[in-house]
Amino acid sequence: MQKESQNSYYVPAEDSIFLADYLENQKGRFALDIGTGSGILAKVLSKNFEFVVATDINIFALKKAHEITTNCICCNAADALQTSFDLIVCNLPYLPSDELVDSAVDGLHDGTEVPTMIIKSASQRIGESGKIIFLTSSLANYSILIKLCESLGFDVKIVARKKLFYEELLLVECVRNT
Ligand SMILES: C[S@@+](CC[C@H](N)C(=O)[O-])C[C@H]1O[C@@H](n2cnc3c(N)ncnc32)[C@H](O)[C@@H]1O
Repeated sequence: MQKESQNSYYVPAEDSIFLADYLENQKGRFALDIGTGSGILAKVLSKNFEFVVATDINIFALKKAHEITTNCICCNAADALQTSFDLIVCNLPYLPSDELVDSAVDGLHDGTEVPTMIIKSASQRIGESGKIIFLTSSLANYSILIKLCESLGFDVKIVARKKLFYEELLLVECVRNT
């Protein structure tokens, strides 16, 4: 992952492409991309979903995303939304950090503090048989996120892994079981 200035957006990197490729086969009616950045994941989802919403806390990211996806909302995670989705995806900011300097990559404590907040928000907007797919990394203490999702009523699986030079990327799929 690369650092971005506050007036910019997260330029799609290996993590974005890894998740985007996995999402090609997902289908449904309503999808939400949290932390859309450039909009790359929302664009992929729009091929197989009737309606796709993209959120980001960075307005500069949304300005970019709006070039390729239409329903862009500037808000924290899924907090501004009132509806349920079949699928929610997020390429999480997962780097362990003491401070939130770059919201595109900094995950705070264990690389799980920001992701925990995002997952809790997403879990309130998932339909009955809906699922969340998120990307995390071996650099984060991702077992905390897996336990969190289980405690929120999801069956959780690591569905794909990709080794990079300095870390391993993981895709985690959480299917509502209650
Ligand atoms: C790693 S980047 C991923 C961007 C894009 N989805 C991709 O795959 O290339 C994480 C994105 O999440 C956004 N973000 C961070 N914290 C957020 C929050 N609390 N709510 C919404 N978006 C957030 C950042 O601004 C950034 O655009």
